[in-house]
Amino acid sequence: MLKPPYTKYKRLYVYYLDHRNLPPINDPDLIGIWIEDDTAILFFHQAKEAFIQALCQEIRASVVYQADLDYQDWEAGVKITSFSTKTLRVRPVWEISDASDEQDKDKIEIVLDPSVIFGSGFHATTWLCLETLELFLLESGMQINSVLDLGTGTGLLSIAAAKLGVNKVTALDNNPLAVDVAQANVERNHCADIVTVQQFDLMTGLPEMQETSYDLVITNLYKGLLINLFNDQGFWHSGIYMVSGFLPGMEPDLLAALPANKVQMLHRGKSEQWRLWLLQYEEV
Ligand SMILES: C[S@@+](CC[C@H](N)C(=O)[O-])C[C@H]1O[C@@H](n2cnc3c(N)ncnc32)[C@H](O)[C@@H]1O
Repeated sequence: MLKPPYTKYKRLYVYYLDHRNLPPINDPDLIGIWIEDDTAILFFHQAKEAFIQALCQEIRASVVYQADLDYQDWEAGVKITSFSTKTLRVRPVWEISDASDEQDKDKIEIVLDPSVIFGSGFHATTWLCLETLELFLLESGMQINSVLDLGTGTGLLSIAAAKLGVNKVTALDNNPLAVDVAQANVERNHCADIVTVQQFDLMTGLPEMQETSYDLVITNLYKGLLINLFNDQGFWHSGIYMVSGFLPGMEPDLLAALPANKVQMLHRGKSEQWRLWLLQYEEV
């Protein structure tokens, strides 16, 4: 995340270590750390070769891979800037609000630090989910009071749901940095009373709160995890499911994993090569 003296991201210096147990690192150049299996991926604003070498010596780790890249190239390969949907205006923290923009003056603003977490709004799947979520909440006529956001990333979709009137949102992610980033974004947008962010690994099953019924479940994930969820009877407690994160060639396997005769396809969406389904589940 952005911490003083930084006010925006320029380049990312990435170090991939074969070790997950790191000592606390209090360095303003550190953006964040992803822990994946037995590895740690450290993201910095500056090149940190000497620091990483000393760290590796201290914890007996090795650098498996390192890279430096433009910030805009790490997720969608485009500049992250303000953008609008029908009723929302999403602005990265490093941009100043432009009150003179007549066209957007009545829009609801969401201010986001995307850090190095998926969900800036510039990947086709996030955009597709955001646009579909907004249209569904505003125009479906269905009463959506509660949302479960599985794999929340930056928290953008959860914050959007809260800003569009949903009064209870649970946002889960297995990546501790995503949880910190989403929590900071929720607080930045004054919706911590509506959105609860929690760390949870969906590969280990479903959280207890899944036993509760939500009006809408959002899953912008990946095929393997979606199939795991579809095959788990505990997943099917809710009404509407917005599913994304898959390509046309993956649809037959995903369709085959849906519970037979209990799911109705309400809508199919697409953006670039990515697909989205809006499903309605009914116990028969
Ligand atoms: C494609 S991103 C979607 C982020 C955001 N919802 C959006 O639409 O932009 C998928 C998210 O799911 C999270 N994720 C991946 N595997 C997961 C798992 N096993 N349990 C929980 N979250 C997971 C990732 O950390 C990532 O933030």
